[in-house]
Formats: sequence, C-alpha cells, structure tokens
Amino acid sequence: MRLPDPALVVLVGASGSGKSTWAAERYRPQEVVSSDALRGVVGSGDHDLDASADAFAILEQVVAARLGRGLCTVVDTLGLDAVRRTGWLAAARSAGLPAVAVVLATPDAECRRRNAARDVPVPAPVLAGQLKRMRVAAEELAAEGWDVVVVDGSGAAAEGPPVPHTA
Ligand code: CTP
Repeated sequence: MRLPDPALVVLVGASGSGKSTWAAERYRPQEVVSSDALRGVVGSGDHDLDASADAFAILEQVVAARLGRGLCTVVDTLGLDAVRRTGWLAAARSAGLPAVAVVLATPDAECRRRNAARDVPVPAPVLAGQLKRMRVAAEELAAEGWDVVVVDGSGAAAEGPPVPHTA
C-alpha cells in the first residue's frame, strides 16, 4: 500500500512487534523520530527508562519542528498513549499534513519470543501490559480520525498453525 508522503506516520505496537524495522525499511533515518534512540542520546542507552521524560521532551520538540516545516515524520514509540497520539495528530492537521497510523499487529507469542532473545528484554509483566493495550488500540484509532490506518500483520509469518496442503 502506497502511503502519502510527506505525512505524519505514527507507529503503534508492543515491544518487539517490529516498529523500528518497519520504519527503517521504508524511511530515511532522519525521518524517523525514535524514543529508544533519544533515550540513548540523553541516557545511558536505548533502554534507559530513567531517561524517558527527557527523551520524550526532545521527541516532542523534534516532531513539532519537522511537522511545522511540512517534513515527513515517523514517530517510533510504542504509540499506545492516546493522549500523545492525538497530540501528534492535531499537530499534523495544523501543518496540513496527512496523518497515518501504522499498527504492527504481530502475534503476542512472536513479540514475546523476540523480546526474550534481546540483550535487554522488557520485563514480562511490562510486555504483557503493552499487549493488553494493543487489543483496544485499533478501536481507539478508528475513533481518533486518522486519515489512514494501516494494519501490518506481516510479523505473523513466523508462527501460527501450519498451512494446510492443497493437492
Ligand atoms: N524482527 C524480525 N522480523 C521482523 C521485524 C523485526 O525478526 N519482521 C526482529 C528485529 O530484528 C529485532 C526484533 O525483532 O531483533 C525487534 O524488532 P524492532 O523493529 O526493534 O521492534 P520494535 O517494535 O521497534 O521494538 P521496541 O519497541 O522494543 O523498540
């Protein structure tokens, strides 16, 4: 599916759902504003949660500055906070840019598997909370007024029931 460009693109998905990978395959690094990367800039590393407040303050500034210039802006955070999300949507509207939400609908088990394989996994209860919030995200997005909502289920390829053979 061809997405509008320039646009605001907000990624929505649990840890390990493949948000950063999705963005890296489609956008230039300068177009992607990542809370993990900014934690690495102002904190001890991508997973330094103590640096979250500072990282998000910078993220908001960068997003506002890019949208204000009409530049394509991909917001790579969990995207599960409706207040933040609708703030970015309003900023895109003010800038006259289309607003796109991309849901990484990767199965829970695959997110857990990828998380467990990481050097610094998200604690299991935290991931469980994210996966629970994901269940209502699509419904919330539908009510928020995004111009385009894309649901990417390609992460499902790694698991699921075997495909039946057709003779
Ligand atoms: N990955 C994969 N196949 C995909 C997408 C991602 O194997 N289709 C792997 C990546 O190589 C990485 C892990 O899954 O090792 C997590 O992917 P990432 O894109 O970083 O996921 P995010 O959703 O961005 O995770 P986080 O929110 O924790 O940064």
